[in-house]
Amino acid sequence: MPITDLDAFWMPFTANRQFKANAQLVTAAQGVYYTLDNGHQLLDGTAGLWCVNAGHAQPKITAAIQKQAAQLDYVSNFQMGHTGAFQLAHNLTKILPSPLGHIFFTNSGSESVDTALKIAIAYHALRGEGTRTRLIGRERAYHGTGFGGISVGGIVKNRIPFGPLLPGIDHLPHTHNLEKAAFSRGQPTWGAALADNLERLVELHDASTIAAVIVEPMAGATGVLIPPQGYLERLRSICDKYSILLIFDEVITGFGRLGAPFAATLLGVTPDIMALAKGLTNGAVPAGAVAVHNEIYDTFMNKAPRNGIEFFHGYTYSGHPLAMAAGLATLEVYQEQDIFGHAKVISAYWEDAAHSLRGLPGIVDIRNLGLVAGIEFDNKIKGVYAHTAKIADACFEKGILVRALGANLVLSPPLIIEKKHVDQLFGTIADAIRVC
Ligand SMILES: Cc1ncc(COP(=O)(O)O)c(C=O)c1O
Repeated sequence: MPITDLDAFWMPFTANRQFKANAQLVTAAQGVYYTLDNGHQLLDGTAGLWCVNAGHAQPKITAAIQKQAAQLDYVSNFQMGHTGAFQLAHNLTKILPSPLGHIFFTNSGSESVDTALKIAIAYHALRGEGTRTRLIGRERAYHGTGFGGISVGGIVKNRIPFGPLLPGIDHLPHTHNLEKAAFSRGQPTWGAALADNLERLVELHDASTIAAVIVEPMAGATGVLIPPQGYLERLRSICDKYSILLIFDEVITGFGRLGAPFAATLLGVTPDIMALAKGLTNGAVPAGAVAVHNEIYDTFMNKAPRNGIEFFHGYTYSGHPLAMAAGLATLEVYQEQDIFGHAKVISAYWEDAAHSLRGLPGIVDIRNLGLVAGIEFDNKIKGVYAHTAKIADACFEKGILVRALGANLVLSPPLIIEKKHVDQLFGTIADAIRVC
């Protein structure tokens, strides 16, 4: 049935007036394709929003959700429980880097980030270091849209309209540098020393006031910024030196996006707290999770007053039965179909295809890691944001979905993508760049 009223739905992160003037809606999804209401197929170059890692409509996930809905649609996890939440937490700890051995469930990446920040501050208070309340984020970071997330985040437009935000926040510099690292394949060799800015912030604020540093191991929503070689290692060691917790926001890098279970696994740097969402349920049911170091969990269990709630935090839908069923089935699909292994293998082909765009008009950088690519256009192009949007629109017309984020085109396809899809994505983008 055609929709006659597009007005009532206030669409998130959307130019509502522009979209509604020429709306094309999606009616179905399967594998790496969406179907539009005009019957056309659209190759999903963004895995939904970095979330449909195993491809759309995986039968096992769909069946698990249906079965769960019929059996136990809802039960609270406040002083109650159901097997799904315990089982998924257990299974997650089997694939997470040790010692991330405990899981707090949320419903989204934004909630995972806010939860992680609250855990960090409450942990220090329990240890008798209640002065450690300061949080350090990074310029250009995206940590969702909660007040915690936008406070430690660094995307200016997401922050400006919302007042002074949380107090006691500071930011590391971002790691992007066209002069030193443009067209790097994978991790740039330049930039590890940028982590030393944390020493500067410690000097300024004193370690006794700093609870945690939060970074995306690979920054996505700002246009794909790949961590320089050695950078995360250096952050880790400075955090250790001053007993500052290191939080990785792996909301998009988790669950195979980089060709390994987590960025932490790939890069060999383990955070104290990890924020997760998206690929946790393959996007099929909203869900997030926060993985914490055993020592943090043990501190809550040992230091909080006995027989009382250890952490005054949670959501009505934390550990929701449908999300847990989807998560359990998703982890099985990842393993049975070796989806992370496939992502790793095809990422070399992906890298070559992405870098084949070098030399096309306006491109000043191409960045890639795993199955992610960012293509940056020259800021000196007049109206560069409109230019990238125009290219993305032209791609849409030609049957592929890519995202325009500022001066960048960003790609993050389902991890089941094959070479022919890679060719179609980058071939179409090249054509679109030439005509725009
Ligand atoms: C790194 C990162 N953190 C947090 C979020 C927020 O997740 P959500 O939109 O599920 O709240 C996102 C979303 O893209 C993200 O990329």
